[in-house]
Amino acid sequence: KSFPLLILQENLGKIWFAKLSPLEGSGVTLMAPFQLYESLAALSLGAGGITAQNFRDHLGLVDRKCIGDQHSWIMRWQGRLVNQDILSQQEGLLETGTWFVVRKGLQLRQAFLWELRWFYPSVQLKAANTSQPHMAEEMINTFIRNATAGRVSRLVNGLSPSTNLVLASYVHFKGKWKTRSQCHGSEFQDFYNDGSSKVQVPMTTWCGKLQYKIDPTYTMIKLPLIGTAYIMLVQPVKPDTLESIESTLDVNSIILKSGIVKLVLPRFKWNSTYDVKELYHRMNLPDMLSGRANFSRLHNDQNLTPDQVIQHVIFEVMEDGEKSTPPGHVPFSNTTITTEIRIDKPFFFRVFGEILNDLLLLGRVKKLH
Ligand SMILES: *[C@@H]1O[C@H](CO)[C@@H](O)[C@H](O)[C@H]1NC(C)=O
Ligand SMILES: *[C@@H]1O[C@H](CO)[C@@H](O)[C@H](O)[C@H]1NC(C)=O
Ligand SMILES: *[C@@H]1O[C@H](CO)[C@@H](O)[C@H](O)[C@H]1NC(C)=O
Ligand SMILES: *[C@@H]1O[C@H](CO)[C@@H](O)[C@H](O)[C@H]1NC(C)=O
Ligand SMILES: *[C@@H]1O[C@H](CO)[C@@H](O)[C@H](O)[C@H]1NC(C)=O
Repeated sequence: KSFPLLILQENLGKIWFAKLSPLEGSGVTLMAPFQLYESLAALSLGAGGITAQNFRDHLGLVDRKCIGDQHSWIMRWQGRLVNQDILSQQEGLLETGTWFVVRKGLQLRQAFLWELRWFYPSVQLKAANTSQPHMAEEMINTFIRNATAGRVSRLVNGLSPSTNLVLASYVHFKGKWKTRSQCHGSEFQDFYNDGSSKVQVPMTTWCGKLQYKIDPTYTMIKLPLIGTAYIMLVQPVKPDTLESIESTLDVNSIILKSGIVKLVLPRFKWNSTYDVKELYHRMNLPDMLSGRANFSRLHNDQNLTPDQVIQHVIFEVMEDGEKSTPPGHVPFSNTTITTEIRIDKPFFFRVFGEILNDLLLLGRVKKLH
């Protein structure tokens, strides 16, 4: 039953990602569709009227066979189950946290609180006295810092005394290369930002058997990770074609060849924060998250709308997955290398889960520092 929703998540993911820009204006953009999907599905529990309808259509949370109350039950379950499937398949690889923070003293509707706890038990509900915005920020950020062992330190800022509702979440993707490299090398090398100005960044050299394609317009490599995920990485030959290749190339339909490759690529350790309200504004869907949206199921009297919806993604892939060299391994020599691939210009990548074939993460690296 999750399958159509996974396809929808993938399609939404591509639409979101194309419009996304990171808050901190860095050269790295990261997004996990299932995380954004979950935040929106949790928020949709508070939506009423046309906004509820928009969320349902947008997130595909509809069962056409059901009418009346049942309709909404099914749709609420769907939103939760899809994510449970994804997270349980990728245990150890993905860590997530979501905080739903309301102004202290504000009474949310019992029905909403009950449904949030029931359908999204991982969402943590907190109250903060936003009449003192700095202290409220500090309090929320301390929770998040604690929960992430210091990895996410200042996610929420810019609160005001009128802030009623903030939704903040993070996902930490921590992968390991599946195959141990048969050569060594880890050093600072040139990366050509936007294809021109170069910076020295930590790079890794990896040698071994790899699936890849060298096309006149791009180079693509498939990088398997420990567990059940893999990365498809695409580096356009011309950096200014990155967006157009990214929006048109169906990375999983390309036929790759196998060969012994020497690969030089940046060390994968990035993070990115983005503003979901701004994204929806840019997507021209004002009835969903803006002040115009109807969130009548959140509060009895006041029409509360989320003041901030912020997401943070940390992406890292560590080297040397498997500790020992597999038995029967042939010592690697220069003579067997047929191809060298350098990832030293802007590129994009997608991470997929192997079992459900779901899109777990999208990334775009245009500039490194
Ligand atoms: C918001 O939705 C509720 C139904 O949940 C409806 O009764 C109310 O009239 C709507 N408000 C507006 C301003 O449309
Ligand atoms: C929030 O802080 C203000 C200023 O310190 C205080 O007057 C108010 O009572 C607090 N509100 C709540 C609900 O604790
Ligand atoms: C954060 O963790 C520290 C130490 O583990 C603890 O003393 C503190 O109370 C925690 N703060 C919050 C807000 O949970
Ligand atoms: C996020 O990236 C910035 C540089 O872009 C870096 O300074 C910061 O330490 C990173 N944070 C985490 C949690 O990795
Ligand atoms: C290949 O040979 C060159 C010298 O010819 C050497 O510098 C390099 O480290 C060798 N690479 C590997 C992967 O053995």
